[in-house]
Formats: sequence, structure tokens, C-alpha cells
Amino acid sequence: MAEQVQTGPGSGALAGDPIAGSAVLPLGSRLNERGHLEIGGCDLLDLVEAHGTPAYVYAEDDLRARARAYREAFERRGTGGEILFASKAFPATAAYRLFAEEGLSVDVASGGELHIALAAGFDPARIHMHGNNKTDEEILMAARAGIGHLILDSFDEIERAERLLDAPMKVLIRVTPGVKPSTHDFITTGQLDSKFGFGMGDGAGQAAAAIERALASDTLELVGLHAHIGSQIFELEPYRLAIAALGELAGEWCEVVDVGGGLGVAYTEEDRPPTIDDYVGVKVAGVREVFGDGVRIMVEPGRSLVANAGVTAYRIGTVKEIPGVRTYVAVDGGMSDNLRPMLYGSRYEALIADRAGEEPDTLVTVAGMHCESGDVLVRDARLAAPAVGDVLVTPATGAYGHAMASNYNGVTRPPVIFCRDGEARVVVRRETYDDLTARDV
Ligand SMILES: Cc1ncc(COP(=O)(O)O)c(C=O)c1O
Repeated sequence: MAEQVQTGPGSGALAGDPIAGSAVLPLGSRLNERGHLEIGGCDLLDLVEAHGTPAYVYAEDDLRARARAYREAFERRGTGGEILFASKAFPATAAYRLFAEEGLSVDVASGGELHIALAAGFDPARIHMHGNNKTDEEILMAARAGIGHLILDSFDEIERAERLLDAPMKVLIRVTPGVKPSTHDFITTGQLDSKFGFGMGDGAGQAAAAIERALASDTLELVGLHAHIGSQIFELEPYRLAIAALGELAGEWCEVVDVGGGLGVAYTEEDRPPTIDDYVGVKVAGVREVFGDGVRIMVEPGRSLVANAGVTAYRIGTVKEIPGVRTYVAVDGGMSDNLRPMLYGSRYEALIADRAGEEPDTLVTVAGMHCESGDVLVRDARLAAPAVGDVLVTPATGAYGHAMASNYNGVTRPPVIFCRDGEARVVVRRETYDDLTARDV
């Protein structure tokens, strides 16, 4: 199950269906009898006819299957664990609600994410709050809501929380364990030189001082440690090293160990991330070995719950061939709906939904519509004879796409559509031009 969930789609595939073998598309995606891409039982062309482009399209079953894969991976090891949906990856109310239904907890990193989690009906005790610069208002909001844990990030925050709280609150200390996995620099967070958490660079370092400080407090009830070493990680060894480092700080008070998120996903067909099961296995074994059986293990997956469940559908507006140089295929979105290629140089696949089964034999660069030369979604994509009016799909945009979307160039942000058994449900509507002026005073 976990194996299948981690590597992608295809039940009910037609013979010779190239979609069924894809590592990047949502579970259950297929080439349908009309030759179109189908996600969650919905024909992409029908879908965009009804809802327009660009649009974020998710297979609801895929989201649920990944949540279950996490749960089952813990159960298989005889522990419930606590699985926190790292909601920064996909902060849509419907996603919070879906993961609450699947028995997950949630991590929020701002008052806004806390607000959405509460609006979605999350039990406050299952909400845990991060942030390297929480404001007074956010700390008070979290305390009043009665959230599970506040994850403390700095000495200033310890002081601030102590000053503000008038009743005891459970807290974890965020530690940077000095482990640097191989991923993009912007998404490593576990090294000493980081804006997050307390360092362990010089032996136990500042983390030990923070623990001492919290233990001496009347209002901060220190119950555990937290470390998140980074994102889009394909190796498992760094997690083991990070947990071993946390062990140096352990004490009687340590009931909870939160080992963060970070499991990588397949953005391209060549990517082969570890399975959810392998990832949970390493984290559970590591915590048990270092902290014993008594502590509760928390994990915070973001991308690995949602990235491959979603695609973005665009309409091609222009095809510009520069003889001897390259061909630009321009779509009606870009860096305003997917910032990752510009922020991290991330690679994506692309396909034409109209001819999903045809040989992708044309080499092009997929550009957005924004006033930036760097607004390139996929450099050197192979597409099946792209033409104006075609629907172009970029898979694996379910994480940090909707989350990082902007109104750059006055574009309206796309809708989010959940598909299941051929039924499409708009869970976030498309912005309107009136939304663009709604905040004017
Ligand atoms: C503290 C924390 N936990 C969890 C996550 C989720 O990481 P990922 O989406 O790589 O699983 C992040 C991502 O930035 C994070 O900062």
C-alpha cells in the first residue's frame, strides 16, 4: 500500500496507457477512452470547460490514501504516533477538514493557519504551532484556543510567552541538530546557521540553555523536543543523525519527540523518493533507540501528503518558435500560481491533457504570462505537438502552489477543485477582479 501510494497512479488503466506508469500524477489518474487525461475520474478537458484555467485539480482519494499510508506505517510498528499535516504546504480549509477526517493532527505556522485550522473544525488539542517570530497576538490566540503545543523557537519568544501566558501551556523546544541533508539551501533548516530554533553547534549549545530556561518557568510546561532538518529530502540517514543529536538533550521531562517533515516527492519521472513506510520506519526506530518506548512520536509531513495529489491545468495561449534557439509555449498562469521553479530552480513535468496518450516528441520551454523573463515553469519539456488552445498540465503541484500563490500582474488566483469518482467539487473559488480591489480603503 505505502509503496504504491508513494510512487503514483493508475488503476483501471487502458492498455498502453503511459499515464498509468507515471510517478508524478495522482493515484488513479488515467488516459480515458477519449484520449484525455483523467484525474479522480474527471476528464480534464470537461473540467476546465466548466471551471476555466488555470486551476489546481486534486484527486481526493490520493490525499486520503497518503494520510492512511502514514497512519498504517505507524500502526504497523505498534505505535499510533501523531501525524501532523504541515498545513503550510496546502492551506485550504477543505484540506484541513479532509485530514482531520482522516485522523491527522495539524501544524500551523501563523495566526492565519491557526484560524483556518479552527474554522475547519480541528480539535484544538491536535493543533501545534510553529513560527520563528510569533507575535504577541499569535501566542495569545494559540493559548486562548487551547492548542496542543507551542513550539518555542528563540530566547525572545520564551520571554514573550512567559510574559503573556497566565496559565501553563505545553511547549516543545525547536532544535537545529547540526544536520544538513542534500537538498536546496533554501529548504534546509537543521544546520547551526539557521533562523530557526536553538543550535547545538558547540556541544548542546543554546538548546541546552533554552531547555534549562523553560524548565525553570512557571507557565511554560516543557514536554519535548522538535527538529525539522529540511524539505524534499531523499535520504533517510540524516533523520537518524538528527534524532541521535536530539538524544543528547533528553531528560525526564521529555514525553514528546517531534521529528518534523521533509520526505521528498517525485516532481519528475526520474525522482525516486523513499516510501512513506520507509520514512516512518526510520523515524520510529530512531526515536525508540534513542529515547526508549515511552515517548510519543510526532511527524509533520507536508509535501509528501499533498504534492502528487494535485496538478495545475493551464490553457496554451501562444506558441513562439525561435528558429535554431527554442520554442516557447506560453500558458495563462506562471509564477503567480507556482513559484517553486523561480524560487528553487525546481523541475516539473508537463503534458497535454487533450492528447495524453500521444508521444511527447516536441521539445519546448513552458513559460508563464508574467512580465518576467524568469517566469518559466518547465525548461525543456517534451510535449505532444502543443498547439494554441490545448490544455497543458503540470503534475505534482499540490504542495506549496496554492500556498505561495500571488496576485502578481493583477492575476486572480486559481480555484482549487477536488475530484472523486468523476465528481468535481470546487473547494476554493477563483478570485474575481472585484477581489483585487476588495481591500482598498
Ligand atoms: C517545521 C516544519 N515542519 C514541517 C514542514 C513540512 O515539510 P515538508 O513539506 O517537506 O514535509 C516544514 C516545511 O517547511 C516545516 O518548516
